Amino acid sequence: MSGETQVGIIGAGPAGLMLSHLLHREGIASIVLERRSRDYVERRVRAGVLEQASTDLLAATGVGERMTREGLVHDGIKLRFAGEEHRIDFRRLTGQGITVYGQQEVVKDLISQRLADGGDVRFEAEATAVEGIDDDHPSIAYRRDGEPATLDCEFVAGCDGSHGVARASFPPPLAGEGQGGGPRVYERSYPFSWLGILAKTPPASNELIYAYHERGFALHSMRSPEISRLYLQVAADDTMDGWPEERIWDELRLRLAEPELRAGEIIEDGITPMRSEVIEPMQRGRLFLAGDAAHIVPATGAKGMNLALADVKVLAEALTAWYRSTSRDLLDGYSDRCLRRVWRAEQFSAWMTALLHRDPAGDPFEHKLRLSYLRYIATSTAAATTLAENYVGFDTAK
Ligand code: APR
Ligand code: PHB
Repeated sequence: MSGETQVGIIGAGPAGLMLSHLLHREGIASIVLERRSRDYVERRVRAGVLEQASTDLLAATGVGERMTREGLVHDGIKLRFAGEEHRIDFRRLTGQGITVYGQQEVVKDLISQRLADGGDVRFEAEATAVEGIDDDHPSIAYRRDGEPATLDCEFVAGCDGSHGVARASFPPPLAGEGQGGGPRVYERSYPFSWLGILAKTPPASNELIYAYHERGFALHSMRSPEISRLYLQVAADDTMDGWPEERIWDELRLRLAEPELRAGEIIEDGITPMRSEVIEPMQRGRLFLAGDAAHIVPATGAKGMNLALADVKVLAEALTAWYRSTSRDLLDGYSDRCLRRVWRAEQFSAWMTALLHRDPAGDPFEHKLRLSYLRYIATSTAAATTLAENYVGFDTAK
């Protein structure tokens, strides 16, 4: 081994932690650098829907025990609009369901497994730059306890989320398609955000409710029989100051058509912009991006954590092939293999977002088109299957 470890990983989110875990199972050493504290990453509230492929990966690699016990298996979702409710039965349409299990619970389980296996996860260690990706000895510059340090390794995995430093070490793209220069960035922003709350109130429904209302989108999700996770479409420039608790609950009751929804203590709240982004290719030399570092999806399709886990499964297989046979074929094909799934998820997430949100600049015609399409999904098996097979995770390797 040249350097302190074989694979230097930046970021202890689902992508970085799962990669470190999968590599360990193949006898490959890694070190994870995370700029936040352990407590911070274990409490950070994010999304919570796992596709079957994600639950299978967690279970098959020995980190699914608590998820199997505490995760809530759902066989469908409810769509509500214009005073109607329609259930989309994923199980009947696709043979699969989803599991509702908070992202920070996945993070907790992975950290505890890495530490039990003697893994090296360095918290409060902030990567500042990645160097040498075009030669055989890359390194990560980082700061820990205010002191600069360097991690020498053989490969670098940038799992450092949407504002990470790993991608900054790519050269800038040339004009046009980016050939010869750095990767190309494809992006789209939306003229609205999501206000999300985690509240101590029993879920009003046993399944997720996606609601389209004249005043905008609302989503009813959950974390346990006592804790609900609720979202509202808000203006892109809204702040929490404009949303006192009473207003949040009133708006949720109205848009979700749940007049009995009980207000409860709000444990966490925040506003997240809706954004789509893909960096293509997701690799250069000895640096590989995974998860949010390489692509962002608007949360409507619940794909973020699933894409992160799927990327690192592919990356771990490619690194394993390299260490077994020094074949670079799988490493070279990493980005292409991931991007097929990523673009499917990007299209689905953008489509769900357009279908369920009120565009502030849109006209009444658009509103009517949306209602018509929602009714089409509610009444056509073909249309419902399109939603269902993408929601549970479409296998682009087919
Ligand atoms: N040095 C070290 N760690 C860093 C740095 C840095 N310079 N920059 C960011 N990080 C850490 C963040 O603190 C975070 O813990 O990288 C981690 C990235 O984790 P996530 O943001 O959870 O991203 P990822 O693992 O790709 O998981 C994607 O997260 O945002 C959600 O919706 C998204 O569900 C998806 C999932
Ligand atoms: C969540 O439970 O946080 C959640 C569920 C479905 C989504 C987004 C978020 O589409």
